[in-house]
Amino acid sequence: MAIDRFGRNIHYLRISLTDHCNLRCIYCMPEDQTFRPNADLLQDDEILRLVRLFASLGFDKIRLTGGEPTVRANVVELVRAIAHTPGIRSLSMTTNGVLLSKLARPLKEAGLQRVNVSIDTLDPEKFRRLTRWGKLEQVWEGILAAEAAGLTPIKLNGVVVRGYNEEDVVDLAALTLDRPWQMRFIEMMPFAGATEIQTRQVVTAAEIQQKIESEFGPLEASGEYDGEARIYRIRGAKGQIGFISSVTVPFCAACTRARLTADGVLRMCLLREKELDLLSPMRNGASDEELRQIILDGVWNKPWGHGLEEGIIPLNRVMNQIGG
Ligand code: 5AD
Ligand code: SF4
Repeated sequence: MAIDRFGRNIHYLRISLTDHCNLRCIYCMPEDQTFRPNADLLQDDEILRLVRLFASLGFDKIRLTGGEPTVRANVVELVRAIAHTPGIRSLSMTTNGVLLSKLARPLKEAGLQRVNVSIDTLDPEKFRRLTRWGKLEQVWEGILAAEAAGLTPIKLNGVVVRGYNEEDVVDLAALTLDRPWQMRFIEMMPFAGATEIQTRQVVTAAEIQQKIESEFGPLEASGEYDGEARIYRIRGAKGQIGFISSVTVPFCAACTRARLTADGVLRMCLLREKELDLLSPMRNGASDEELRQIILDGVWNKPWGHGLEEGIIPLNRVMNQIGG
């Protein structure tokens, strides 16, 4: 087991497969974002070696992220190999859904269990504004394809940005009335690249909840968390509503995560700059034992939590370079 100095059992690894993306969401990256050359990214065999090492340390849950994980070449075979790694019990993906209508079935067959799809509005024009060029239609088809392929339960992520989509939370919440989906609303977090928008246009989970309740009446609290999301339900609805309030109500005490960036760096807190390079030692011939030791040291020194309240914003990476 990998335990940190606060006694948290760290067993959930989020792996960014690439920093590249086929969209440019305004809360994630600047429009002229440049991406790393492929040679600087972890190669398939390097990812699989690290997955085996993490699994040997008790990591049993993996989520694939990006950038956009589905734009990585060979993503289906990579999923297959990770899914078949001994010790990995849970394998899911966070995706923008653009390519899902094509990939949902092959990914499911390769061993992917679930997807979280990002969708911030049901209005095609607002969707285009938020993603800079995305087509809502493609994402919607992707979500339906994921459901048909059995990548369930379907979870949707909506980041709420003042001036863009704060009124759209009602329509998004309404999706749960007759569908067994989980619609999760995410408070926007600040990173480099889009810090101005991220800090000035935050809509708190409390405000989002209020908007939903003014339409549907009081939400029923389940008293449960699903990962970082506090789970609620509209009275009589088939699906659930989740709030991820990283900014106003941090869940750091219960955090079990580590992140592996696409360029092979271990990041123990999304919102702290501290990182540990795994790629260079690996390319310089480090043994499994040496790499395991770097990982264990990283886990031990996992920061307690973020410093947003004190105004400490991580500025060494843009969101798509961390993986969300
Ligand atoms: N704050 C909160 N969530 C963000 N995401 C991207 N940028 C931000 C941000 N600044 C979300 C995406 C996606 C996940 C990978 O991270 O919407 O759901
Ligand atoms: Fe791409 Fe996701 Fe960032 Fe949007 S939030 S630009 S879909 S990586």
